Amino acid sequence: MDVGNLCDKTALVTGAASGIGRATALALARRGANLVLCDVDEPGLETTASAIRAMGREVFYRRVDVSSRHEMRAFADAVHQRVAALDILINNAGVGLGASFRDTPLEDWDWIISINLMGVIHGCHFFLPPMIARGQGGHVVNVSSAAGYVATEPLCAYATTKFAVLGFSEALREELERYRIGVTAVCPGIINTPITRTARLRGPGATEEARQRMVAFYERRNYTPERVAENILKAIQRNRLVAPISPEAWIMYYLKRLSPALLRRVNRWLARLAGAEAR
Ligand SMILES: NC(=O)c1ccc[n+]([C@@H]2O[C@H](COP(=O)([O-])OP(=O)(O)OC[C@H]3O[C@@H](n4cnc5c(N)ncnc54)[C@H](O)[C@@H]3O)[C@@H](O)[C@H]2O)c1
Repeated sequence: MDVGNLCDKTALVTGAASGIGRATALALARRGANLVLCDVDEPGLETTASAIRAMGREVFYRRVDVSSRHEMRAFADAVHQRVAALDILINNAGVGLGASFRDTPLEDWDWIISINLMGVIHGCHFFLPPMIARGQGGHVVNVSSAAGYVATEPLCAYATTKFAVLGFSEALREELERYRIGVTAVCPGIINTPITRTARLRGPGATEEARQRMVAFYERRNYTPERVAENILKAIQRNRLVAPISPEAWIMYYLKRLSPALLRRVNRWLARLAGAEAR
């Protein structure tokens, strides 16, 4: 898809109240797209929506929990009363969880799977059929993570969901190619967004000090969501299957193939720096 000019195109971004979702929605609007947004954070959603309106684009937004099939179905019905189908679907909403397997209660598994995995599946389930039926192609972006191809102890459940999103995207891409709908799994890396403040931490590493170390580490790294957004647009343009974004995401992507043992060492070092390593 040519992302240089998105006039008359409609793009949906989930989790658009903050971070990568907000930056991607604004980047799409700058290229002329009309936007559909959702999030559970209503004030944040309103801020994103008014910035889009100020650019002269149309925006429709609603408070929707992507983990709820009922809310997603009602949202899709409302969207498809306005447009026949989306051109771009960005399943971005997600949450973080820093915990080893031993420190992860079943309630946290339910929580993170329902948002990070089922949220993506709900987006595809409710918005893809009209896109296919319209017959004009389109693009789906599912936000996975570098933790979608490299799993570590302190990100056990998080990595589980992100591996699943990557696998789902790979299968979906095979199926949708015949309809000229591209599918990209985006794997950002270490990005400075509010997720470091909202992520759940469990176990011995769940201290305020550990959180502050993680926040400071992400701030020092300072790879911005705006840079991620620009790279998401490039990945759509190039119709990439997997799109690692920051340099460390690329390094991990290639190390996984070239030297899994070295990758393990790099990963432990990164986890120590981020202060999230299980003790
Ligand atoms: N920041 C990073 O380093 C990083 C790295 C890899 C992947 N990611 C992924 O990028 C995506 C965006 O994260 P971010 O870093 O911009 O974080 P963020 O916290 O800034 O944004 C996430 C947004 O999703 C929303 N959200 C959470 N649960 C929701 C739900 N049930 N329904 C609807 N909206 C919901 C939040 O309210 C928030 O606005 C996530 O999928 C995350 O896992 C982030």
